[in-house]
Amino acid sequence: MGARHQLLPLAALLLLLLLLAAAAGASGGVTSGYRRKAEATADMPLDADVFRVPPGYNAPQQVHITLGDQTGAAMTVSWVTASEPGSDTVAYGRSPGKMDLSARGTHARYDYYNYTSGFIHHCTLANLKHGVKYWYAMGFGHTVRTFWFTTPPKPGPDVPFKFGLIGDLGQTFDSNSTLSHYEANGGSAVLFVGDLSYADSYPLHDNNRWDTWARFVERSVAYQPWLWTAGNHELDYAPEIGETTPFKPFTRRYPTPFRASGSTEPLWYSVKIASAHVVVLSSYSAYGQYTPQWAWLDEELRLRVDRRATPWLVVLIHSPWYNSNGYHYMEGESMRVQFERWLVDARVDLVLAGHVHSYERSRRVSNVVYDIVNGKATPVRDLDAPMYVNIGDGGNIEGIADNFTRPQPRYSAFREASFGHATLEIKNRTHAYYEWHRNHDGAKVVADSVWLTNRYWMPTQDDSN
Ligand SMILES: [Fe+2]
Repeated sequence: MGARHQLLPLAALLLLLLLLAAAAGASGGVTSGYRRKAEATADMPLDADVFRVPPGYNAPQQVHITLGDQTGAAMTVSWVTASEPGSDTVAYGRSPGKMDLSARGTHARYDYYNYTSGFIHHCTLANLKHGVKYWYAMGFGHTVRTFWFTTPPKPGPDVPFKFGLIGDLGQTFDSNSTLSHYEANGGSAVLFVGDLSYADSYPLHDNNRWDTWARFVERSVAYQPWLWTAGNHELDYAPEIGETTPFKPFTRRYPTPFRASGSTEPLWYSVKIASAHVVVLSSYSAYGQYTPQWAWLDEELRLRVDRRATPWLVVLIHSPWYNSNGYHYMEGESMRVQFERWLVDARVDLVLAGHVHSYERSRRVSNVVYDIVNGKATPVRDLDAPMYVNIGDGGNIEGIADNFTRPQPRYSAFREASFGHATLEIKNRTHAYYEWHRNHDGAKVVADSVWLTNRYWMPTQDDSN
């Protein structure tokens, strides 16, 4: 009697625990109840102030910078002159009154069907000091324009740094809102996950929209480096009008420091900023076994990543591997099958993707045990695996992707059909704070956030709720 009497509360407790577990397993994460008001997504008109051509004859326009080497001890400055080549020289220095250094770049034009570009200049400033503010100017001989940037701090295991995370930006009124929100939240470099201008949405891929986009984003990209990932809207592959060179406008306009990371192509490369090692991949270049991108990533993860020097390992792709939206569903699947095992083995902290025009964050999951006979094709919780974030919500002309599959898969922690941007603030080797902001809120309002714990330094910590 006494023993049975003691067992009853235990059985009730077990039943309660079972019920709680069943309730927890019945759904995935959160599908946000936030409903943005219905409104058309429209490109800003050509006479919008953000597209204004700077005054002065042949004034440098579309100024943008990106890393010129792997760590930011070099910076590549790009700009366009419309009427004539002008000077290829950039003057720079530690104060606006003392730009006593100079570097000489190159320029070129390209043709795209019935469009001929302006003179596109690229000039790399080398041997810079880390963590230092430089002023720079170009346009000598005609109209000089002056800007400034701060180089990233020297890479190290506990060097804090704040990244902006933006994708699929385009040039709509929503795009402008996204950029303004990001500027208010103040990162020091942007990890851009692809789909820049959406010029290919216009008849004949109107490349004038590449020009307007670059003028629009100059207010940020001239002052801090953006790291570029290629999206499908960068392909500009149009054999019907004789344009058969994929990525022609994108690669002519947006250089990447690919040679510094041992890559042979500008579309996949890596950089080391503060305590992060950022790997950029191309969803639209060959990645099958033995291809150049496959071979480079193999060596990159095995030989060149050092988590003691740069603890945070972040991978950028355009087409997501984990996406529970009906739009672009499973488009990233073949690349996931090819590379996911490597990323889990490498204990990647975070994978950022765009392409799907909504926001979604995953738990730490993997799906790497399947082979063609065992039938084990379900994603499972995996603390070795990356967290996946879809941040293709910059606000482009194609509008919002509001077509989530139901029920929400268990791997999906949070999803919402809104435009916005995110930031990743690395604190030290063990902790980073991630937050997402929707455009319809004030810039400082956080709509989703999570503390990440580093997969190399705190591998058993479950941080992906
Ligand atoms: Fe895309």
